[in-house]
Amino acid sequence: TGSFTFDPGFLSTAACKSSITYIDGDKGELLYRGYPIEQLAEHCDFLEVAQLLLKGELPNAAEKENFANIIKNHTMVHEQLTRFYQGFRRDAHPMAVMVGVVGALSAFYHDAMDISDQEHRDISANRLIAKLPTIVAMAYKYGAGQPFMYPRNDLDYAANFMHMMFAVPCETYKPNPVLTRALDRILILHADHEQNASTSTVRLAGSSGANPFACISAGIACLWGPAHGGANEACLQMLEEIGDVSRVGEYIKRAKDKNDSFKLMGFGHRVYKNFDPRAKLMRETCHEVLNELGLHDDRLFKLAIELEKIALEDDYFVEKKLYPNVDFYSGIVQRALGIPTPLFTGIFAMARTVGWISQWNEMIADPEQKIGRPRQLYVGAARRDVKPIGQR
Ligand code: CMC
Repeated sequence: TGSFTFDPGFLSTAACKSSITYIDGDKGELLYRGYPIEQLAEHCDFLEVAQLLLKGELPNAAEKENFANIIKNHTMVHEQLTRFYQGFRRDAHPMAVMVGVVGALSAFYHDAMDISDQEHRDISANRLIAKLPTIVAMAYKYGAGQPFMYPRNDLDYAANFMHMMFAVPCETYKPNPVLTRALDRILILHADHEQNASTSTVRLAGSSGANPFACISAGIACLWGPAHGGANEACLQMLEEIGDVSRVGEYIKRAKDKNDSFKLMGFGHRVYKNFDPRAKLMRETCHEVLNELGLHDDRLFKLAIELEKIALEDDYFVEKKLYPNVDFYSGIVQRALGIPTPLFTGIFAMARTVGWISQWNEMIADPEQKIGRPRQLYVGAARRDVKPIGQR
C-alpha cells in the first residue's frame, strides 16, 4: 500500500531529524553540536563532550564538576551483576559478555522502564555512561582470571578506567597522564557519529518503546561487526598478519582484487570521501603515546604509515576515495596503552554509549517520533497452496 523507495543500506534515506552531530563527508568535517571535533579534542575532556552531546551545550566549570560527581555516584555495578560474568567462559569475547551484561542492567533498574519521564531518562543515561567503563574493565579482568577492581572515584573518567583495567589488589597503581589523556581522546573521537549502523540500531530498538539498557545492548551487538566497530580489532590483526613493510604491496593488490573478499581494514567510509578527521587526530595521538613509551620504532606503526602512504598514492584508492578512517590508528594506540586486541571494540562501545543514549533521548523527546518500520520489495514466491505432506 502506498509508494516507497527501494534503498538498501539507506544510501539516500534520512530516517530522522537530529541536532547532535554533523558530518560533511566531502570536506572531511565532523561537528558535535556545531563544535569541530579538532577543537573539542584539544580543549575538552570526555565528560565535557558527553554533556555537550546529551544536553546540547558545553558545561561551565560548576556544571562540569556537578556532572562528574553525578557520574561518580553511579560507577559501581550491583554486586549481583558479578554473577553474570561467572556464567561466561573465560575465553568469551568481551563483546559477547557486554551484550549480555548491559542488556541485563534492565533487570536492575525498574525506573528505566518509564521512558516518558525525562528525569528517568537522564538517570538511565548517567548510569550507562558511568557503568560502561566498569563493565568493560570487568570483562577484561574476568578473561584474565584476575579479581575485579572497584572504581576509584578520586580519579577522573579515563584514569579510573585505566585503574580498573590495570591495577591489582595490594599494589598502588598510578595512571600515566599522557596515556590517560590518549584514552580520553579515543573516547571523544568515538563518542558520536550521527546515524551509523549501531546508532540506527539503537534508534530502531528504542522506537518501539524498549528500555534504554536493552537498546544500548542492541547497539553493542551491531557495533561488534568488522565493517563497523570491529574494524579496529580487524585492522590490528591485519597489520600483524602483514607483519613487514615488504609485504604491503601484496596486501594492497589483494584489496584491489574483485575476486578476493579481502578489504583494507581501517580504510573507506560510507560518508567520508576525504580524510576522516578523526584519523588525523588519532595518528597524532599515536605519535604522542609511542614517544611517551619510548616506542618510536614501533613495528606496526611504521607498517601502518607505509600502508597509508602506498594506498593514498594508488589509483584504486584515489578513484574510490578510500582514506584511512578512525580505526586505522586507534588499534595501535590501544595496543600501546596495554589494552588487548579483543577489547578494542568494547572501548569503542564505552565511548559511543553517550552518542547512542543522546540519540535515543532525542528520538523519545521528538513528538514526530514513530516506530521504525522499513518496507521491503517482496521478491519471493507468488501465492500458492499447501500440499498435504505425502504429496510434497
Ligand atoms: N579496501 C578495499 N576496497 C574497498 C574498501 C577497503 N577497505 N572499502 C571500500 N572498498 C571498495 C568496495 O569494494 C567498493 O568497490 P566497487 O565499487 O568496485 O564495488 C567501493 O570501494 C565502495 O565501497 P562499499 O563497500 O560499497 O562502501 P560502503 O559505504 O558500503 O562501505 C565500509 C563502507 C566502511 C563498510 C567499507 O569501506 C569497509 O568495509 N571498510 C573496511 C572496514 C572498516 O574500516 N570499517 C570501519 C568504518 S569507520 C568506523 C565505524 O564506523 O565503525
